[in-house]
Amino acid sequence: MMAEPDAKSSDQNNGDMLNGEENCNSDDIVDPWNVVSTSATGIDYDKLIRRFGCCKVDENLIKEFERVTKKPAHHLLRRGIFFSHRDMYEILKRYEEKKPFFLYTGRGPSSTALHLGHLIPFLFTKWLQDTFDVPLIIQLTDDEKFLFRDLTVEEAKKLAEENAKDIIALGFDVEKTFIFSDFNYMGQSPEFYQNVVRIQRSVTFNQVKGIFGFGDSDSIGKIAFPAVQAAPSFSTSFPSIFGDKSNIPCLIPCAIDQDPYFRMTRDVAPKLGFPKPALLHSQFFPALQGAQTKMNASDPNSSVFLTDTPSQVKNKINKYAFSGGGATIEEHKERGGNCDIDIAYQYLRFFLEDDEKLEKIRKDYSSGELLTGHLKKELITILQGVVSEHQKQRKLIDEATLLKFMTSRKLNI
Ligand code: TYM
Repeated sequence: MMAEPDAKSSDQNNGDMLNGEENCNSDDIVDPWNVVSTSATGIDYDKLIRRFGCCKVDENLIKEFERVTKKPAHHLLRRGIFFSHRDMYEILKRYEEKKPFFLYTGRGPSSTALHLGHLIPFLFTKWLQDTFDVPLIIQLTDDEKFLFRDLTVEEAKKLAEENAKDIIALGFDVEKTFIFSDFNYMGQSPEFYQNVVRIQRSVTFNQVKGIFGFGDSDSIGKIAFPAVQAAPSFSTSFPSIFGDKSNIPCLIPCAIDQDPYFRMTRDVAPKLGFPKPALLHSQFFPALQGAQTKMNASDPNSSVFLTDTPSQVKNKINKYAFSGGGATIEEHKERGGNCDIDIAYQYLRFFLEDDEKLEKIRKDYSSGELLTGHLKKELITILQGVVSEHQKQRKLIDEATLLKFMTSRKLNI
């Protein structure tokens, strides 16, 4: 039996407020380009759920996840880091009934290397692929970065290839994964382009202004782009994988900043006779300087990159990671540290999988027994491990492997 969602916290609105957001009292800015909070503890995610009209990932959903998949929930799910969803119960029901669906996620290639924040949706997507054993589509929006950043077409295409290697190094199954660059795939697949223009005809300029805040002096390329990110949500964009089946829904894991694209997509889908995409949204991996903003590739000092050396990782954490500890050792021992604003502790929530160890660190830091230096040392060791393991795996990705992932083909499903 499917567990019913908790009416209070979950599904009163699998909401799709196209023109944006319920009016609610929050100064937080969250859109695909800006994430800013005025609070040291960062974005108020409960308010964001109400504003965006999505549903909370609660105990009930996590239990249902575990019941249906017959395995423990991923730590990013059970810690509430993937905190919000749209239609996740529907996807779990399909899985249980052995009906097909696919995973879709993406990356806008704006920097040579991914940072630790980008890893979050991709690590979770890898777990979802392993768990559900379904096809995965990864879109690299080199066209988006050409339109929104100061990059040439050639530079954006090159960054897409470099980023694809970073993504492949996380261990995705080549038999079940298709990674594409928009610049390449648009020319190869009439079906993809046809879906893009179908979407473009269904959304007005007023609507994209409402959702994305575009103004009169934004280029028409920017205004038309959201349709390109929407189109992979529809299975007919990938005839090599799904044939002409138009009724296969997808599940999109991403951080909540990408939700505006998919609010638009969910509004358009029924008009075109396609199923709405389901979503699982993550919170932001915060900037080193504090949770007021997200780790962001365009500010190198806010980020730990997957290309950083062990000593760069160490120096960045020691120098920049905002501390919730006391100003002096005496003060810290007396009053304890504040984990809610401490960036080293917050990073451990994302990367330290052992629940008991994390809880001990939280208690000891909050009581003042554990000092900031020791907390940071713990984090540095873990992150150095994550980054160097990734570098080792990335070195193994040759051009032939890259080509295989990026070739439109039938997947082994
Ligand atoms: P991009 O390249 O900005 O980000 C790639 C993915 O990483 C997430 N993300 C983060 N997650 C946690 N903490 C952070 N600090 C952080 N920064 C970025 C993003 O939400 C995203 O999931 N337009 C998109 C590319 C795209 C896409 C998609 C993303 C195309 N199709 C479908 C998700 C799903 C972009 O520029 O992502």
